[in-house]
Amino acid sequence: MLPELIEEVSIFISLLEGLAGSEGKWGPMFQLEEKTTNLTFDIICRAALGLRLNEQQRTESSPLKLALLDQIRLMSLGANAGRALPIGRMPWHNAAIRRNNKTLRDLLMPQIQSKLETGPNDSQVRTIIDLAIKYIDKDDPNASIATPNAEFVDRLISNLKAFLFAGHDTTAATLCLMFKLLQDNPECLAKLRAEHDAVLGPDPSHAVDVLKKSPHLLYSLPYTLGVIKETLRLNPLAATLRDPPPGFFLTAPGSSLRYPMEGWGVWLSAPGVARNPNYWLRPNEFIPERWTVPDGDPLHPVNNHAWAPFSIGPRNCIGMELALVELRIVSVLVSRTVEIEEAWDDWDKQRGSKATPNAKIDGERLYWAGDGIVHPKDGMPVHVRLREHSPAVSA
Ligand code: HEM
Repeated sequence: MLPELIEEVSIFISLLEGLAGSEGKWGPMFQLEEKTTNLTFDIICRAALGLRLNEQQRTESSPLKLALLDQIRLMSLGANAGRALPIGRMPWHNAAIRRNNKTLRDLLMPQIQSKLETGPNDSQVRTIIDLAIKYIDKDDPNASIATPNAEFVDRLISNLKAFLFAGHDTTAATLCLMFKLLQDNPECLAKLRAEHDAVLGPDPSHAVDVLKKSPHLLYSLPYTLGVIKETLRLNPLAATLRDPPPGFFLTAPGSSLRYPMEGWGVWLSAPGVARNPNYWLRPNEFIPERWTVPDGDPLHPVNNHAWAPFSIGPRNCIGMELALVELRIVSVLVSRTVEIEEAWDDWDKQRGSKATPNAKIDGERLYWAGDGIVHPKDGMPVHVRLREHSPAVSA
C-alpha cells in the first residue's frame, strides 16, 4: 500500500505547508491532532475498506468518522463514569450507541456487498475485507461469496469497526508525540534530517518521487526508526488485558511467591516497564541512539521484551507494521519541510476565559489525557513555518 500511503501523507504535507506563515513566519495556531487524525483515518479506511474518504480535505467530517468517534466517546464514558454511575444503563446512552451502530453498519455494508459481488481482490493491494472474505466458509462450509453466512457478516462488521478505531487513534496521537519530542530535542531533529538528506538526497521536494521509485529506502533509516521506537517507549498509548487460564501464576524474579491469577484481568503496565531503570539507561530521556548502538553498548536495550508498545505474543497489535510505515513516511516527508512548534499562547487567547494556563504536568502544558486511548492535551495546539526560511537552515 506504499503508493496509497505516500499519496495521503503528501496531502498532509500540503495542508501543513498551507498553514505556514508567509516569508518564513509562523502561521496561525491549529490543533495538530485533528490533522493527524484525518490523515490516519484516511489511511485506515483505504487499508480496511478500500474506500477513499478524503477526510483531510473535507470541511466537515464524514458520517463514518462522526459515528465512529462518537461511539468511542460513548465507550469511554461508560468505562469511566460507569464505575460510579449506572450510565451504561441509561436509555439515551444505549439509544445513542444503537444509532451509531446502525449508521456504521449502513455505511460499511455497501463496501462488503461490493466485495462480495466482485470477489476478493488478488492483486497486491488487498483490504481487510479482501483478507476476511478468503475465510468466508471457514466456520460454515455451506457459506460462499454468493450466500454469505449472516454471522460471518456481523463478525466482519465488528472487526472492521475494531480496525477503524485501533488503526487511526493510536497512530494519530503517536505522530503528535513524535513531533513534540523532536521539538524538545533539536539535536535529534538535526540528526534525523541529516539521515534523510543522506539516504533520500538533499532536496526534500524530491523525497516523494524518491520514495515512490525506491520504497525500500524507508527500511534503510535506522535513526528514524530509533526516533519512532523511542517515541513509543516513552509514550506507550494503548494497553490490553489478558484473561489468565486456571493454574496461571505470576512470579517476581528472586521471589518464591506465586500469585494465582485465575479470575483476574492481567494488565501489562507497558509505561512502567518502558521506564524501568533496570532495563533502560537514563530511562526518562529521549535517546534514539539507544536503538542504533551495537549490542554491548551501555545504551543498548538489555531486554527485548521491555519495549512493548504494541504488546507481545500471538495477540499483539496486528497493525504494527502499518503503523511503523506510516510513522516512517510522515517523519521522512515532514521533518525537512516544516518546523512544528507548540503554540499555547495563541491557544489561550482563543480560549479566552476558558483558558487553563496553569494546567501542567511536570511543568508541561502538553500532557496526555482523554478518551479511549490517551490523547495530547487539547489536541496539541501548534503553529508551523516553512523550513527553508528557518534560521537553522540559513545559518
Ligand atoms: C502507534 C500505533 C499503534 C499502537 C501503539 C498500537 C497498540 C496496540 C496494542 C497495545 C494492542 C493490544 C495487543 C494485545 O492485546 O496484545 C493493539 C491491538 C490491535 N491493534 Fe494496534 N496499535 C497501533 C496501530 C494500529 C493500526 C495502524 C492498526 C490497524 C491496522 C491496529 C489494529 C489493531 C487491532 C485490530 C488490534 C486487536 C488485535 C487482536 O486482538 O488480535 N493498530 N494495538
